[in-house]
Amino acid sequence: MMPRTLEPELMDDEEQAAAYARADFEEENQGFVNRFIEYYPDFAEGHVLDLGCGPADIPIRFVKALPKCRVTAVDASSPMIKLAEAAVKAAGLADRIALKCERIQALALAEPADAALSNSLLHHIANPFQFWYGLKQQVKPGSYVLVMDLLRPESPEAAQAIVEQYAANEPAILRRDFYNSLLAAFTEDEIAAQLAELNLSRLMIDVIDDRHWVVGGRIY
Ligand SMILES: C[S@@+](CC[C@H](N)C(=O)[O-])C[C@H]1O[C@@H](n2cnc3c(N)ncnc32)[C@H](O)[C@@H]1O
Repeated sequence: MMPRTLEPELMDDEEQAAAYARADFEEENQGFVNRFIEYYPDFAEGHVLDLGCGPADIPIRFVKALPKCRVTAVDASSPMIKLAEAAVKAAGLADRIALKCERIQALALAEPADAALSNSLLHHIANPFQFWYGLKQQVKPGSYVLVMDLLRPESPEAAQAIVEQYAANEPAILRRDFYNSLLAAFTEDEIAAQLAELNLSRLMIDVIDDRHWVVGGRIY
């Protein structure tokens, strides 16, 4: 199995952030929100944390789908947060989505959240325990969490084939980032080991297609 190759933690290059914000992630992002609703049909209101929110497409879709929820969305890239602010304002949701430009490792909420989301952040973080530990600290015990990210392929060739299959027509900068993200991602076994190490084995991992895993459940 190919070892992990880290990519830069933050997406703080303006062109890179703009290319990411322009890309069409509707299927993935709406699928993520739909999955939260499908997994946790009894969750209808509360304060939800989104770690590594990028341009805030997921928080916007989330509060539209669950009108009694509000979201605190966190990203440490200031170009991403600027794009997120513009998107939230354009959607008229500034009263329900609070944006914070902070590293998740340094995050201190006034009060722990009632649920947490994170899509496509973990592979950016050198030490995955910082992510899982932070997640646990930021929510009330028993909160629902939904975390999704890429799976690391077997080889650079397999990663390139995934980029060709799913991003053939995307701009070069997005294709580069997608390839680097695949190389920085974790395997299913690595995620399971991280959860076990931190006593988070009540969370379940599921591989949902050829390039994504999802972790869900209540966190204690
Ligand atoms: C691939 S994007 C995903 C954005 C969004 N969740 C989505 O699904 O569209 C990952 C984001 O995580 C942010 N990020 C990476 N490391 C971070 C950290 N330690 N703290 C906060 N944000 C971080 C990056 O700046 C980037 O905007």
